[in-house]
Amino acid sequence: MDEGILRIFNKKPHYSKLDNSKIIGKKIYYFDRVTSTNEMAFSLAMKNKKGEGVVLAANTQTKGKGRLGRTWHSPEGGLYFSFILRPDISPARVSLITLVFAVAVVKVLRRLNLDIQIKWPNDIVVGAKKICGILVEMNSTADRISFLIVGIGMNNKTSQHGLVYNATSIYEETGIKIDNKELLLDMLESFDKYYFHFKTGHIEKIINELKLFSSTLNKRVMLKIGTKIFEGKVVDFDNDGALILKTESGAKQRFLSADNLRVVR
Ligand code: BTN
Repeated sequence: MDEGILRIFNKKPHYSKLDNSKIIGKKIYYFDRVTSTNEMAFSLAMKNKKGEGVVLAANTQTKGKGRLGRTWHSPEGGLYFSFILRPDISPARVSLITLVFAVAVVKVLRRLNLDIQIKWPNDIVVGAKKICGILVEMNSTADRISFLIVGIGMNNKTSQHGLVYNATSIYEETGIKIDNKELLLDMLESFDKYYFHFKTGHIEKIINELKLFSSTLNKRVMLKIGTKIFEGKVVDFDNDGALILKTESGAKQRFLSADNLRVVR
């Protein structure tokens, strides 16, 4: 739903930028309350056919979107932001983009000495609890991306009563309340760096970090895709970010995404 992007911008959002940014964060708009930063970024990308790296951030969202049509609960205290990218890639490479930014998120959160891991394909977790989610939406033809919207929902200062079941926040894990705007700039700096690695072909370095940060590598898991369930051991991630599952029979299966993943043992 188009909230009326001009009307939103007429609310005079606070504006800033990330110093020395190559792409992500050259323009940052902060809002107090929006429906969904992903939705806003999508409308903006449809209207303005050029330009990438614009960031829209908000203190709260009234209709935050999660993966698979779920709602992303967005109370005050969390950090919610989205940005527009226009990589020259095919839709098949989009799942890799999610992982590029998952690694970039982990790099920042590990500075807090938290044992942060990536639960493929798009969750950032501390133990079994989710601390951050990534939603990548695309506008594309059959073989080329027109634009991508990358949305990040980070449970930052959110206290326990504002969190959904099985979620945690930076505050709950560390007792520290980090300013949302400071955290945003740290995140964007990391995102800009990793997106540059991606664009310049340094995929192997990113995948190696994904393996290092993975909560599922070498574990037995159950993957759910629609009504189908696959079980086996995660033995690798390839250079497309696909998960390689070795089943009981010894056969290897490759998955670019899944609706749900559960570690079984
Ligand atoms: C997930 O389901 O784990 C992905 C959640 C992504 C939520 C973020 S919050 C900022 C951006 N705007 C949205 O409406 N969704 C994403």
